[in-house]
Amino acid sequence: MSEILVAKNINKIYDEGSIRTQVLTGLDLTVRAGERIAIVGTSGSGKSTLLHLLGGLDVPTSGEVWLHGQCLNQMNETERGNMRNQHLGFIYQFHHLLPEFTAIENVAMPLLLRKDVPIKQARHEAVALLERVGLGHRLEHRPGELSGGERQRVAIARALVTKPSLVLADEPTGNLDYDNAQSIFTLLAELQDTMQTALLMVTHDRSLAAMADRQMLLKNGKWEDFLD
Ligand SMILES: Nc1ncnc2c1ncn2[C@@H]1O[C@H](COP(=O)(O)OP(=O)(O)OP(=O)(O)O)[C@@H](O)[C@H]1O
Ligand SMILES: [Mg+2]
Repeated sequence: MSEILVAKNINKIYDEGSIRTQVLTGLDLTVRAGERIAIVGTSGSGKSTLLHLLGGLDVPTSGEVWLHGQCLNQMNETERGNMRNQHLGFIYQFHHLLPEFTAIENVAMPLLLRKDVPIKQARHEAVALLERVGLGHRLEHRPGELSGGERQRVAIARALVTKPSLVLADEPTGNLDYDNAQSIFTLLAELQDTMQTALLMVTHDRSLAAMADRQMLLKNGKWEDFLD
């Protein structure tokens, strides 16, 4: 299987004046095409920090992140932004949808950022994906007019609209009840299978984590052996 993302010896130290916090220590990680990986760990163990580094939203203090054979560390902000838009989708714990835009507009946004995609086509693809996540009847609703589960489905549609090779999801079901969390995960897994997208998901939910191909436990910024 081809390697989508490779992280080598990642260290992250937050350095704020007199306060110096080492959050990640010597982490390695490889994500292969289509793989489903769950990252678990207690609050403060560094999961979100790691996801930010892997997605090029932040840079490690030392170590390297390679996406599709290109090293993110050596890129400037614009180049990293382009790599993100080209290859990655993001789902956050709290949807991060734009409140003043409709569901269609939110989902179409990553395509419109590409500038070479006509608005009509972007909207068409957004509608198709919203229909697949069961929101064909909520196209013109703004995030404030949707339920928590519906917002999360819009966020999934937005993450997948560019057909990324990897989706990074930070507790995508964190603020949903059990049934909704299960159905969101099942939906994500189905979409992932049809699109051959790899998924790296942070979750506190051990039963969701158990549905992944691989579970990884982060403890004090290092991988721990996983004991079921
Ligand atoms: N910008 C920052 N400056 C300084 N310290 C930070 C910063 N961001 C995070 N930290 C610290 O790094 C540690 C890891 O934070 P992180 O958000 O990665 O944890 P997490 O595993 O995602 O936790 P949670 O499960 O609560 O979301 C925490 O102790 C946090 O206080
Ligand atoms: Mg977090």
